[in-house]
Amino acid sequence: MSSFSREGRARARARANIALVKYWGKSNVALNVPAVGSISITLADLWSDTEIEFGPAIKADSFSLNGAEEVSELRRVTACLDLLRREAGVDTRARVVSHNNFPTAAGLASSASGFAALVGAAASALGLEHSPEDLSVLARRGSGSAARSVFGGFVEMQVGEAADGQDSYAVPILAAEDWPLHVVIAVTQTAAKATSSTKGMRSSETTSPFYRAWVESAPADLDAARNAITSRDFETLGRVAEHSCLKLHALAMTSRPPILYWNPATLACIDAVRGLQHAGVPVFFTIDAGPQLKAVCLPEVTDRVAAELHDINGVVDVLVTGLGPGLEIG
Ligand code: DP6
Repeated sequence: MSSFSREGRARARARANIALVKYWGKSNVALNVPAVGSISITLADLWSDTEIEFGPAIKADSFSLNGAEEVSELRRVTACLDLLRREAGVDTRARVVSHNNFPTAAGLASSASGFAALVGAAASALGLEHSPEDLSVLARRGSGSAARSVFGGFVEMQVGEAADGQDSYAVPILAAEDWPLHVVIAVTQTAAKATSSTKGMRSSETTSPFYRAWVESAPADLDAARNAITSRDFETLGRVAEHSCLKLHALAMTSRPPILYWNPATLACIDAVRGLQHAGVPVFFTIDAGPQLKAVCLPEVTDRVAAELHDINGVVDVLVTGLGPGLEIG
């Protein structure tokens, strides 16, 4: 039980993150516990700002994103808020107003930054005191990748062992400023993606013949990536990240029915990154459950990578960002 903060309202900012070792598959759907650990980087310039107000005059939860009511996401938002309300011992409804500073039409997932900002703001408004690990557990219940956006820089999501999922949270590996990599995002399609991550991974779990191998091979990828990060070994990190990304897409492609997240421009971007690598440019790619390619590079080659991706037929926009901090409340 805890009392309300004075106004019952609070705000928080959380940033998007991109996984280098991917999360795909759940061991517990109800608690949203991932079947594999993952490693991500938090992006400096792509964020969600969320303001929440709890109050007796509010009859039902509402959620607006970039000025429009988001009815389709309201169920997940309410489920997440219910966890916090239960902890606080209140039943008060809330008004949630969120803004993404990055183009939602760019097809970049906003659930990671969105749910991290939501739990940060809601916990603060309800006067609950949580450790970052507790907030990461709560964010995970909203969306698995959101657990990582609680922290900045390089972050590892742990599967955990507890049946209640309370030890399945993210932990920081390295601060953003300790290895300031850049990310160049090639936007190849602005329409919403066909198959959500949640649905795609469910399908892979139950129908891809490679799913077991994916789960069994994840710890080795995590060890290799973690070691590469702590020793600032860019080449090894790139190799592991591309391997994990392509394995994820192999799972998607071998699901039934098959899921193909790429378009021709995605493949052209992969080809361009490989060309740069052959020319000795320190860059590697990763792709999530959509057609956008994210190129990770050392800062001195960012302009060259951005120019190359920009010129590809089918690339409609290029965004550049560094690595940034974790959840900011207030
Ligand atoms: C491909 O976190 O969106 O981006 O937990 O069902 O909300 P839910 O899934 P979500 O999945 C992200 C999948 C990914 C890889 C990653 O971010 O690790």
